[in-house]
Amino acid sequence: MLRALYARLALALGLLLLRLLTRRTRHLGRTMEAFRASDFTRLTGAAPERPAAGDEIDRLEATFRAMAERITDQIQALTEQDRLCRDLVAQVSHDLRTPLASLRGYLETLRMKDGQLAASERVEYLDIALRHSLRLSRLVEDLFELIKLDARDVRPYLEPVSLGELAQDVVQKLDLTARRKGVHLRLAGDRAVPFVRADTGLIEPVLENLIGNAIQHTPADGEIRVTTRVTGPSVTVEVADTGRGIPAEVLPRIFDDFFQAPSNRADDRHAGLGLAIAKRILDIHESRLTVASSEEAGSRFSFALPVWTGGHSETAAQADEPTR
Ligand SMILES: Nc1ncnc2c1ncn2[C@@H]1O[C@H](COP(=O)(O)OP(=O)(O)OP(=O)(O)O)[C@@H](O)[C@H]1O
Ligand SMILES: [Mg+2]
Repeated sequence: MLRALYARLALALGLLLLRLLTRRTRHLGRTMEAFRASDFTRLTGAAPERPAAGDEIDRLEATFRAMAERITDQIQALTEQDRLCRDLVAQVSHDLRTPLASLRGYLETLRMKDGQLAASERVEYLDIALRHSLRLSRLVEDLFELIKLDARDVRPYLEPVSLGELAQDVVQKLDLTARRKGVHLRLAGDRAVPFVRADTGLIEPVLENLIGNAIQHTPADGEIRVTTRVTGPSVTVEVADTGRGIPAEVLPRIFDDFFQAPSNRADDRHAGLGLAIAKRILDIHESRLTVASSEEAGSRFSFALPVWTGGHSETAAQADEPTR
């Protein structure tokens, strides 16, 4: 009789002990199940607050939590990338559709009314069609550049570059455009600045876009000043204009892909990609494009590149390799 009682007691104790031991694994099992049920997007339940036993179950739980956090982060990043990609495709289709439809319209008219059009009308229609085709090819080139830069397919070839001379070349190239608008484009600062470490082929379009933007947004009689000067271990280039400035509420968005201030959207020659490309180019040079603008004083864009300190020309990838 007594023996049977002892046996039952031992069994009950054993079961209790087993239950206590498996409680943590059951809890972990429930957490895993809830994570699966949330489609791997939400890790419910905080990490246990009891002192860690430091045993296999604790290690298993810590590993699971780290893995689940990584999975949720990656799912979030992929969802965001997917959204950006959809936005980009929507924007590109919109931007391609308008000039393409117009190009097609003018070509169709030319074909249908060939005998009825005056010579001047034919020239006008052909000019419009040509303008749209130029816009399309520029847009495709810019998009291609943007995608290459995003995919990190562009490795800057870093060599000694004279920013003073480069600024002078770009100013000369754009001088006629500025003159036609009655805008004074000037070089200032020290032209004999030391060489910097940069890829000329990539920095030139950055300067072209900054100066081109300044010309576009500065009214007749305004001034654009392109300054190069030494600032500590770097050379800084600044493009300052006396134009109409950028409203404070849109300033934080001007480096976004396809962003244009509302007042600019009517100008179909521009897509709003210039600053987005410039920012990426400076990113891969480990530099930053900064802007200060006010509607009274105009805009001031600048970036700095490190002074060349000798050695061989190199790609950024080689430059990042540890020296042995
Ligand atoms: N110097 C400036 N003065 C006033 N607004 C500017 C200036 N530079 C840029 N912006 C504003 O920032 C927007 C984005 O400039 P960005 O160079 O990226 O595009 P865009 O010049 O419109 O087109 P794209 O460069 O592709 O031809 C411009 O549309 C304009 O609204
Ligand atoms: Mg531009």
